[in-house]
Amino acid sequence: MATKTLETLFHDTLRDIYYAERKILKSLPKMQRAAQSDELKAAFQKHKEQTEGQIERLQQVFEIIGKPARGKTCDAIEGILAEGEEIMDEYKDSPALDAGLLAAAQAVEHYEITRYGTLKRWATVLKLDDAAKLLDETLQEEARTDEDLTAIADATVNAEALEGAE
Ligand SMILES: [Fe+2]
Ligand SMILES: [Fe+2]
Repeated sequence: MATKTLETLFHDTLRDIYYAERKILKSLPKMQRAAQSDELKAAFQKHKEQTEGQIERLQQVFEIIGKPARGKTCDAIEGILAEGEEIMDEYKDSPALDAGLLAAAQAVEHYEITRYGTLKRWATVLKLDDAAKLLDETLQEEARTDEDLTAIADATVNAEALEGAE
């Protein structure tokens, strides 16, 4: 029987990003410790605080649809974060470490942007306007984080990786 509707898909995808956000929250302090540049460390710290707020927003969305806030294993984020860990190991004490960490963080942001972009649109179609607004707030925050990371890459991190400067 074909019973799965957009509502089902919205709920499943919400659980996917809820799982992902909580994994990201655990991973950001590790990235912060691993980063060499103070600017990158600060960016990871700032985003950790934002991520706490994003998890709260997701809990509000679960409340709006009358479902318990429960995650569902997201293989994509597991893979993206595992690649980040690989960079931490393989580039430890190397000039290109920060460039690799920054790129790993941007892969996370782009995953989040695709999920929140989709969820926001589905919320609108489902006439869940309050949920759409919450999802859009996070979407904007993720997009700004991505831009901030690009700015750090352009300003310092990529050049340091190239020159091997401290
Ligand atoms: Fe996030
Ligand atoms: Fe993020």
